[in-house]
Amino acid sequence: MELQKAFAEINLKALSHNLNVVSKRTRNSRILAVIKANAYGHGAVKVAEHLIRKGVSNLGVAYTNEAITLREAGITTPILVFFDRDNIDACLEYNLTPTVFDLETARKLSAGAYRINKQIPVHIKVDTGMGRIGFDIRKAFEAVTAISSMKNIKLEGLMSHFSEADLKDKEFVNLQLTIFRSLAEKLKHHKISFKYLHMANSAAVLTMPDAHLNMVRPGIMLYGYGGCNIDKLKPVMSLKSSIVFLKKVPAGTPISYNRTFVTKRKSTIATIPVGYADGYNRKLSNHGEVLINGIRVPVTGRVCMDTTMIDVTDVPGVNYKSEVVIMGRQGREQITADDIAEKTGTIPYEVLTSVGQRIKRIYR
Ligand SMILES: Cc1ncc(COP(=O)(O)O)c(C=O)c1O
Repeated sequence: MELQKAFAEINLKALSHNLNVVSKRTRNSRILAVIKANAYGHGAVKVAEHLIRKGVSNLGVAYTNEAITLREAGITTPILVFFDRDNIDACLEYNLTPTVFDLETARKLSAGAYRINKQIPVHIKVDTGMGRIGFDIRKAFEAVTAISSMKNIKLEGLMSHFSEADLKDKEFVNLQLTIFRSLAEKLKHHKISFKYLHMANSAAVLTMPDAHLNMVRPGIMLYGYGGCNIDKLKPVMSLKSSIVFLKKVPAGTPISYNRTFVTKRKSTIATIPVGYADGYNRKLSNHGEVLINGIRVPVTGRVCMDTTMIDVTDVPGVNYKSEVVIMGRQGREQITADDIAEKTGTIPYEVLTSVGQRIKRIYR
């Protein structure tokens, strides 16, 4: 029984296509697929399983609990945890690879691994200009040297993150890359080397071949976005719904909270069962569009928590069976996460990751 009032259709073929785009561009680098935040809203377990079937050998998540969910689903692939600290026992128990960005955590990891007679692989994060997480580049050499002497730690990766690889002007990111490379060189000179060196997010995969090093960390491009859509990436997620209420109203009828929309003519107004609690941003009030029968239909009045009203007066044959496409393609029309992001003053990342938990993900 189809209980869901709205659902996200996840197109696994599109996911494979986008992975192929990454592979073709990064032939000499290993791909670490970024599936944090529930695979950017697409469903981490299913996305991980599919990517692994297609040959991905490394995964990346933000937090330890995300990695545990994957392990508990039976995924044994190496998982790099980007932003956590102090979850030493969980890292060891679940065979996770922590990103290390402070000496205290490194010491605790080494001690924990020693207790169970293990060596724990880690990736060390250095801050080359992102200003978020990582050893200060001025102290990075000493820090890495100190960690390299910790017996139960295996230095597997050295990593950093670009702050603006999506911009045309590459001056700053090239500087970041140079700084990173010279640290890696200096460490190598002192006999400290890493299996993987990595910096490249999607934008760098697409536009900075020099930054691919021997591992890349694409996220958004796997899901079909990435600003510079030069490789014809395919959006993986579509959001679909139906009509829960349909009414004919005279001119002068106010619609939704605060009466910000009043019908100017005899109108047919539909209510769709998706609201801001499902990730349909309230900024789309009187501003958004959805697709019905291949026609663009405007949002009327304020988006509510669970529902949104749309003006379907100009859609011939609209009825309770009509499919409503909130994001995706219908006929010749398409609404992308980029389009929604532009209307709501954000980025496609936020549009995708905001899709609520009530929305069932269906994999095709
Ligand atoms: C550490 C790290 N690496 C890689 C990525 C992937 O970035 P993108 O989705 O832009 O490819 C992210 C995402 O923000 C990240 O935080």
